[in-house]
Amino acid sequence: MSKKVFLQTFGCQMNVRDSEVICGLLEKAGYKITEDEDKAEIAIFNTCSVRQHAEEKVWSAVGRSKAKIIGVIGCMANNYREAIFEKAPKVDFVVGTADIAKIPAIIAEIKKHKGSLLEKKIYETDANFREDEIYHTGFHLDRTHAFVVISEGCENYCSYCVVPYVRGKLRFRSSTDILDEIREDIEAGIEKITLLGQNVNAYKSDGVNFVKLVKLVNPLQGLKEFSFITSHPKDTSKELFQAMADLEKLKKCLHLPIQSGSDRILKLMNRNYTRKSYIDLVEDYRRIVSNGELSTDIIVGFPTESEQDFQDTYDLVKEVEFNSAYIFKYSPRPHTEAAKMADTVPKEEKEKRHKLILDLQKKISHQKKCQKRK
Ligand code: SAH
Ligand code: SF4
Ligand code: F3S
Repeated sequence: MSKKVFLQTFGCQMNVRDSEVICGLLEKAGYKITEDEDKAEIAIFNTCSVRQHAEEKVWSAVGRSKAKIIGVIGCMANNYREAIFEKAPKVDFVVGTADIAKIPAIIAEIKKHKGSLLEKKIYETDANFREDEIYHTGFHLDRTHAFVVISEGCENYCSYCVVPYVRGKLRFRSSTDILDEIREDIEAGIEKITLLGQNVNAYKSDGVNFVKLVKLVNPLQGLKEFSFITSHPKDTSKELFQAMADLEKLKKCLHLPIQSGSDRILKLMNRNYTRKSYIDLVEDYRRIVSNGELSTDIIVGFPTESEQDFQDTYDLVKEVEFNSAYIFKYSPRPHTEAAKMADTVPKEEKEKRHKLILDLQKKISHQKKCQKRK
């Protein structure tokens, strides 16, 4: 059987980076990565569970696949585990987010028995951490830009969010290993780096916090520019803004998800900040980081979101003037606290609210771009 593997990635940058790690491990084990699914005997889907729509895209991609061996890995693997085999009987293996290093061995085991009476399905979703060395395969999709994971998992338990349940407890990589990886990247020709974590500002390992980490990254020779995602408002500090202003290689871009402009909804979301503290933070950012760009995430239609709650979000978007914003319709997720509440905002109303903010933000983004050109 040929050793060609097709790997399709859904979801966030964390998954994009995980897919690179998996490709690197597979290449080391003698497999070839192909972008042409028809030419591959093995198809792997690295999946996302953040909203129902994300999962639907995965189910249809799996449904279309004609590969001999099919694997579903990533966040949906942790979310549904062996139930994936019931929903999609053609799937051969299911591997969770912390178990990815086992994929080459799992494929080898499945290949051995495929088509025989001993044919089997394998699922591995119980690991709690990853070995640092998996990040050092040197496989990069982009020759000049690399993602570098600094933390795994999340323990913020925002009430709508499935990530803590599918990515596990918050773990930090050691700063020495992170810096080693960046040095290897630079040696391989990488010029730009994005530091990755669900909440990078919470970073803390062997006496190095996030501000210290960016100060250690900045002087690395050969590095031209670096950035980070994502920041949680509750952990974002003025010290970080000062570092953004001072460090010449650190991009003046901040992605600071607000989620809602209503204090009542923020509380229900378990976000641990208020509308006012968010706006104060943005004021600090703009004062300290001149010409800094600002982007955000917003969820409309969270359970019990009233016209007034929505209006508060709308007004905040108008007031803050983000450079860009990702706007999502609330989607109830398994395991989460919010899923225990009734999904009270009707679909049409979510769509209406989504469009209203989208249109407003489009105008603002356009104005901002024009101002910049002047
Ligand atoms: N760790 C990051 C990213 C989380 S997922 C953070 O904290 O910002 C990316 C975005 O998806 C979130 O910011 C949120 O706006 C959105 N999201 C998460 N769960 C959602 C859900 N159940 N319904 C709709 N949008 C959701
Ligand atoms: Fe989800 Fe909140 Fe963690 Fe972000 S910080 S991944 S929204 S639980
Ligand atoms: Fe990312 Fe989706 Fe998982 S947003 S962490 S791939 S649930």
